[in-house]
Amino acid sequence: MSKTPMDTLQLPCIQIAIALLLFTQAKSTIDISAHTNHTNDSCTAGERSALLAFLAGLYQQPANLLSSWKGDNCCRWKGVYCGNKTGRVVKLDLRGNDWEVAHSIPAMSLQVIGGNISPSLLGLPHLRYLDLSSNRFDKVHIPEFIGSLQKLRYLDLSLSHFIGRIPPQLGNLSNLRYLSLKTVAYPSSLVRQGTYSWDITWLSRLTSLEHLDMSYVNLSTIVHWLPLVSTLPSLKVLHLSSCALQSSPDSLEHSNLTSLETLDISDNNFHSRSTPNWFWDLTSLKYLDISTNGFHGPFPDEIGNMTSIVKLDLSDNNLVGMIPSNMANICNLERFDSGYNNINGSITELFERLPSCSWHKLRELFLFSSNLTEACQPH
Ligand SMILES: *[C@@H]1O[C@H](CO)[C@@H](O)[C@H](O)[C@H]1NC(C)=O
Ligand SMILES: *[C@@H]1O[C@H](CO)[C@@H](O)[C@H](O)[C@H]1NC(C)=O
Ligand SMILES: *[C@@H]1O[C@H](CO)[C@@H](O)[C@H](O)[C@H]1NC(C)=O
Ligand SMILES: *[C@@H]1O[C@H](CO)[C@@H](O)[C@H](O)[C@H]1NC(C)=O
Ligand SMILES: *[C@@H]1O[C@H](CO)[C@@H](O)[C@H](O)[C@H]1NC(C)=O
Ligand SMILES: *[C@@H]1O[C@H](CO)[C@@H](O)[C@H](O)[C@H]1NC(C)=O
Ligand SMILES: *[C@@H]1O[C@H](CO)[C@@H](O)[C@H](O)[C@H]1NC(C)=O
Ligand SMILES: *[C@@H]1O[C@H](CO)[C@@H](O)[C@H](O)[C@H]1NC(C)=O
Repeated sequence: MSKTPMDTLQLPCIQIAIALLLFTQAKSTIDISAHTNHTNDSCTAGERSALLAFLAGLYQQPANLLSSWKGDNCCRWKGVYCGNKTGRVVKLDLRGNDWEVAHSIPAMSLQVIGGNISPSLLGLPHLRYLDLSSNRFDKVHIPEFIGSLQKLRYLDLSLSHFIGRIPPQLGNLSNLRYLSLKTVAYPSSLVRQGTYSWDITWLSRLTSLEHLDMSYVNLSTIVHWLPLVSTLPSLKVLHLSSCALQSSPDSLEHSNLTSLETLDISDNNFHSRSTPNWFWDLTSLKYLDISTNGFHGPFPDEIGNMTSIVKLDLSDNNLVGMIPSNMANICNLERFDSGYNNINGSITELFERLPSCSWHKLRELFLFSSNLTEACQPH
């Protein structure tokens, strides 16, 4: 029997059952209750001057980006939201579009802030929501004082070009539900100049945390990251992609992570080892991405235990053999990527093992492997 590259068989296979539809992004739905009904439209003088001092440290692109920041009623300024009864500033949403601009065709115009983040923000003691993401704080460190904004429930500093150490003071934000410190590697610089942390024990004090994204933060020296995040009782979403993590324990031991729904630990440096067993204990998981980690050995049978899984990415490892037959139990599967592993055996068998109970949900399927045999037989 001749071995045929999967690439050439892909089209007929897809015609059988799989409609390649659009990838819908799961958006976090954490309610921060920052109501924006300005029934009591009165900005206090103290909060107004705190905002103006913050503005004074910023640069804006274009220069009139925050031109609405004038007049007495700061509750009407762009990105500023006040509590409906108290009239106090509860939300500051100054998300820029740096990330979108970098990926948009045709080009859209850049709207970002940068510069210095003034500690005058401490003059907003009721602030629950702070979004400074997708801006250009080039070569600025994340300020330590942010850890003193005690009421914060939502903090997004992602994709804003911060560098340096993540301040452990963030561990003081005990009300935090959502924290994104995700960054990217900036290819323009010779030395990688992102953010890093050599000690993440401060995370264990964020006991209300539901969503944590530290992708691309250099965590190469962190060993006990798993026991640590396992102590966060409400954690639902965890992204630690491209963190240069090197150690991955075999079991969860005394920790649980029972509420975890999303786990992304793609593209780390787990040094070519077999797939750790603890993934398969996370039976409430809906999204699992362990791609690009050099995991080797057979496809674990336990995959089939993860019956609630919706998106599963095992791609770009060194897993060998056939996917387990109990994958037939995964009836919620919408996306399965097992490309760039060494699946062998017949394509007919492969399709028999994919869960037919999820055919109507399956949107994306990637199985590239050059050791599959036999042409794809439409039913
Ligand atoms: C704002 O709140 C007031 C009083 O609670 C209510 O009557 C009004 O309909 C609300 N407006 C909006 C736009 O929600
Ligand atoms: C409006 O806000 C002020 C303080 O800014 C407060 O004293 C007053 O009680 C508020 N009014 C209502 C109706 O909530
Ligand atoms: C704001 O108004 C909404 C609906 O009118 C209410 O449910 C909520 O409790 C109010 N929030 C504050 C902080 O007063
Ligand atoms: C905040 O955290 C730092 C470092 O983790 C700590 O030294 C400091 O005492 C904390 N401050 C408050 C107000 O809790
Ligand atoms: C991460 O930090 C370590 C220690 O500072 C450094 O040796 C390593 O090159 C960094 N890794 C990346 C990918 O930047
Ligand atoms: C998980 O799957 C393995 C292999 O199929 C099976 O032996 C084990 O009993 C399953 N565990 C649970 C908790 O279902
Ligand atoms: C295909 O299988 C052969 C024999 O087991 C192996 O040597 C080769 O590396 C495999 N090729 C790929 C792309 O996995
Ligand atoms: C698939 O690969 C595994 C591991 O290299 C090997 O033991 C097995 O015989 C192969 N199966 C087929 C059908 O080629």
